Amino acid sequence: MTDITQTPKKLFIKTYGCQMNVYDSERMAEALGTKGYVTTENADEADMVLLNTCHIREKAAEKVYSDLGRLRPLKQAKPDLKIGVAGCVAQAEGAEILRRMPLVDLVVGPQSYHRLPEMVEADGKVIDTDFPEEDKFEHLPARKALRGPTAFLTVQEGCDKFCAFCVVPYTRGAEVSRPVKRLLTEARDLVSRGVREITLLGQNVNGYHGEGEGGGWTLGRLIREMAEIDGLERLRYTTSHPNDMDDDLIAAHGDVPQLMPYLHLPVQSGSDRILKAMNRKHTAEQYLRLIERIRAARPDILLSSDFIVAFPGETDQDFADTMALIREVHYGAAFSFKYSARPGTPAAEKPELPGEVGDARLQELQALITSQQRASQEAMVGREVGVLYEKPGRLPGQMVGKSDHLHAVHVHDPAGKAGDLVRVRITASSTNSLAGERISG
Ligand code: 5AD
Ligand code: SF4
Repeated sequence: MTDITQTPKKLFIKTYGCQMNVYDSERMAEALGTKGYVTTENADEADMVLLNTCHIREKAAEKVYSDLGRLRPLKQAKPDLKIGVAGCVAQAEGAEILRRMPLVDLVVGPQSYHRLPEMVEADGKVIDTDFPEEDKFEHLPARKALRGPTAFLTVQEGCDKFCAFCVVPYTRGAEVSRPVKRLLTEARDLVSRGVREITLLGQNVNGYHGEGEGGGWTLGRLIREMAEIDGLERLRYTTSHPNDMDDDLIAAHGDVPQLMPYLHLPVQSGSDRILKAMNRKHTAEQYLRLIERIRAARPDILLSSDFIVAFPGETDQDFADTMALIREVHYGAAFSFKYSARPGTPAAEKPELPGEVGDARLQELQALITSQQRASQEAMVGREVGVLYEKPGRLPGQMVGKSDHLHAVHVHDPAGKAGDLVRVRITASSTNSLAGERISG
């Protein structure tokens, strides 16, 4: 419940990293709303600044410290300003943050942010990086902050895979799935407030095994049930591990019309030697066969992936294998990263490759991905697609939304409004978006 005896205080949240953090930031804003905080886009007018951080690569983690440094003058001008660090850097570095950055008042990990309302009222510095027994989702207020017709819904958190390079199993903890009933309630609630597209989130979302009628449900079963919700037109899910793509989930791509033809399925490398060293527990060939099965279920599906280059020990041949895999799959998009050694992970024990090797490989890989992305966008020209309008575009009378294949599409449609799901013929492709004409309601 909101305490109306307090004057509104302004909360500025900066979100780093993944979509999971975007969801968490919204929920933290809602939790702090119970203490009279309203969000602002302007840090200068804030009474509280909260950085929701990412620890996945060193650069992302270090960015937090430089951003904190930049808050110093603001804190000096406004000694009552509360500064909080949330998310995975908070989890991984905890009290170290308070030592390095005395201007920080509050440190809260991803599993304890339901305790934020108490924490902001505490005197002095507070830190909570527990993995509490209680389920944070049960202690958060009802969903409020909607960004339009699309919403994220966290169905699963944590990771048991322990890829050799990754901090997630340490920062987000073991895999936990939220129960089916609660997810259906949250999804129905979102839809009743105008949401037409839900993206199911989890670090290992396709490893979902939440408690439902008759025992543990798979993600495929959850998707089929969600697709029954009236008014929920589109479903997506991210991020998946290749080893958890079961037959039913693959089949759902063919027979659940609401499930959109886009799948982010990270492979990381195309070299079996490196995949083994990464502890990915599958080969390049197994991944390629999996892609074949997914494409058999949904031939027009657009695929994306994450890649890491210059993992310790990666040779020119290993990198060439990755490039060959990319050529074979032909991606619609991909994220690629230069390997970054993370303290506490097994790979961090191994000698790193020279920085220039990683830079050169990353550039080469990104050039290939960019050309594939462009080609897959250009292949959309002339096709008819569904577009869910999200907001007005920059030009008068223009709407912007996402296609079924997750392309940003600009449409001149003076009668259009956010939340309209329309049919559009794609007329042109530019660097990062498509243009089209509306053909019907
Ligand atoms: N170095 C570089 N990239 C990483 N990722 C995860 N850990 C690291 C690391 N130590 C990438 C992986 C993962 C994505 C979210 O971030 O590709 O899929
Ligand atoms: Fe990290 Fe691997 Fe888990 Fe993904 S599957 S979160 S890369 S350990």
